[in-house]
Amino acid sequence: MTATLPNGQSSLLMQMTQRLALSDAQFRRICQLIYQRAGIVLADHKRDMVYNRLVRRLRQLGLDDFGRYLAILEANQDNAEWQAFINSLTTNLTAFFREAHHFPTLAEHAKRRQGEYRVWCAAASTGEEPYSIAITLADTLGTAPGRWKVFASDIDTEVLNKAQNGVYRQDELKTLSQQQLQHYFMRGTGPHNGLVRVRQELANYVDFTPVNLLDKNYNVPGPFDAIFCRNVMIYFDKTTQQEILRRFVPLLKPDGLLFAGHSENFSNLVREFSLRGQTVYALSKDKS
Ligand SMILES: C[S@@+](CC[C@H](N)C(=O)[O-])C[C@H]1O[C@@H](n2cnc3c(N)ncnc32)[C@H](O)[C@@H]1O
Repeated sequence: MTATLPNGQSSLLMQMTQRLALSDAQFRRICQLIYQRAGIVLADHKRDMVYNRLVRRLRQLGLDDFGRYLAILEANQDNAEWQAFINSLTTNLTAFFREAHHFPTLAEHAKRRQGEYRVWCAAASTGEEPYSIAITLADTLGTAPGRWKVFASDIDTEVLNKAQNGVYRQDELKTLSQQQLQHYFMRGTGPHNGLVRVRQELANYVDFTPVNLLDKNYNVPGPFDAIFCRNVMIYFDKTTQQEILRRFVPLLKPDGLLFAGHSENFSNLVREFSLRGQTVYALSKDKS
């Protein structure tokens, strides 16, 4: 069935659905720019993904030409559009208690440590990872003020907003026990049916802020007992990964732990970190 639309509306619809041209040169430029700004390496086979993500942004801006979009970006290095460009090109896949074997390791480590237990979650995405850390620490150490703190960051400001809101679909929390659900989340009612929100008592222990891992200095309140840097290094080249790992060294307390993603191997990259468990690292003895 085709609907007849008034002229203005049908040309708007055309503009919204027509495939735009993305030349080889424009694709290569986009790859260079996201590499410079975020360290993310985009292979040629990511071309459709790049198109689909950026075309949405162009349409929001009422643009129908990638060349024009790039010209706007490059005309001003401080343009707020750079953040939207970065937000469009990051991959934010995450889940509560992803790579579940890390959380008992975290709990055991936290039990053995004195003073405030501090964790930095360095690619926090939409919040599932820092809240999983917070739930583990609340279950293990309780919620007495000053006992522990989670500091969560990401380069993508849009995901950080979602993380800070702390609202999730209830079916995303299948890996939590009934007790954890009751303790740490409130169920939505009426129009919010099927949604849950992180309780303020837990959210108070998690701070969110933007941090670009490419920055030479991280504006984070270290040193930390543990750093979670999971499933983000895979987007970077070897040199970038090594530079980031070396910047982590002074941010870890003695015998602190660094948690990596399942396909990330840090001991092959720098001498400063040695394997302590399944994708868990600590400072090498001669470095700590
Ligand atoms: C695939 S998600 C991983 C999320 C979570 N760590 C996990 O393992 O479930 C990767 C995250 O890294 C973030 N990211 C990419 N480049 C970054 C950079 N240069 N600095 C900080 N975060 C970055 C992305 O925005 C995204 O949220």
